[in-house]
Amino acid sequence: MENPLSPASLERVAARRPTGTVAAGSRFVQACLRQPVDRTPVWLLRQAGRYMPEYMAVRKHHSLLDICRTPEIAAEVTITAAQRLGVDAAIIFADLLLPFTPMGLDFEFLAGEGPVVHVPVRTAEQVRALRIDRVNELSYVAHAIEKVVAHFAAPREDGDQLGIIGFCGAPFTLASYMIEGGSSRNYVETKKLMYSDNVAWPLLMEKLVTVLVGFAQQQVEAGADVIQIFDSWVGALSVTDYRRYCLPATTELVRRIQALGVPVIYFGVDTASLLPAMSETGADVIGLDWRVPLDAGWKAVGGGCAVQGNLDPITLFAPEDVLKDRVREVLAAAAGRPGHIFNLGHGIVPGTPVENVIKVVEWIKEYGAQ
Ligand code: CP3
Repeated sequence: MENPLSPASLERVAARRPTGTVAAGSRFVQACLRQPVDRTPVWLLRQAGRYMPEYMAVRKHHSLLDICRTPEIAAEVTITAAQRLGVDAAIIFADLLLPFTPMGLDFEFLAGEGPVVHVPVRTAEQVRALRIDRVNELSYVAHAIEKVVAHFAAPREDGDQLGIIGFCGAPFTLASYMIEGGSSRNYVETKKLMYSDNVAWPLLMEKLVTVLVGFAQQQVEAGADVIQIFDSWVGALSVTDYRRYCLPATTELVRRIQALGVPVIYFGVDTASLLPAMSETGADVIGLDWRVPLDAGWKAVGGGCAVQGNLDPITLFAPEDVLKDRVREVLAAAAGRPGHIFNLGHGIVPGTPVENVIKVVEWIKEYGAQ
């Protein structure tokens, strides 16, 4: 199936190039559109994070939210990580929960505990009170993207244009933080609302979609080439419940972001059984976690999408020979077919040796030549 997005997306990338330069395009964006590329593109989930000394040096002086809300610092952290690792795309430094503030929900990140929403959303009345008209308050993310785009405007040494990724959460994963008040194991409160209130749940999904489309639009207008939707905790759902309670809103989100003219990557964890349903959203790329062999995952999403993944991030702690084997295994499963973006199956964890991350990127470039 021809992807109707391809000319517009590639033109967007080309338009960023300074006049007078000739570039081959962006192998990352081309792979998102299942076009053949010279080698498998690579970037890594949480590539700017606590494992990286440069990030920790910035964190010493600024809170996570300060970094996110200060375009100069967010851009610097984004750029430093992409350059240090030599990856083919930069994901803007931000957080999934930022849209909560303009929706009227206070939250903070507590050391060792992760995010905390002070008054979790548990009733229809609270859902009705959520604001959807203040998305412009998130413009600091777009400003950071503009700075990253300007920094990477010129093609790299090999002529490739670095891809710029914007992102947002998916309705289910964001709803789970709103309703649980933070991270969760069993999603009891989320599922209670989902099963029992057939007014509040759809309204919450709809409000989230409205806000997320507006947020994604700002990022695309600022120059993001691709939007990744993180549905990190969707693996908590059965296929039946995913289809009934989440697929419609998620599909609408995907389609409306694609209508902005960019490819969409849709990622979740523990999704082996959900993959066929996830691909029905129409996302251009499905992000696979490491539990599913890449070729089986690709088969499950069908031939109509590209895939991203899926090295286990904890293999980055393994001895070199094991790590190298696992990198080769992922590439062999992709077998050079157009539409594979190398990534981890989930984010790099704190304590990961930076030198192993750099080595992995180098091996992918070497072994992923087509
Ligand atoms: O380089 C990048 O990947 C970009 C930065 C990025 C962050 N958050 C910064 C961050 C991205 C893409 C996210 C997305 C995000 N935020 C997700 C989806 C990604 C995933 O892992 O599935 C989720 C679930 C969140 C919510 C969130 N933010 C949690 C649960 C936590 C605490 C968990 C932890 O690791 O401590 C955060 C904090 C956070 N966001 C950190 C970073 C670098 C680490 C904390 C810090 O620096 O203080």
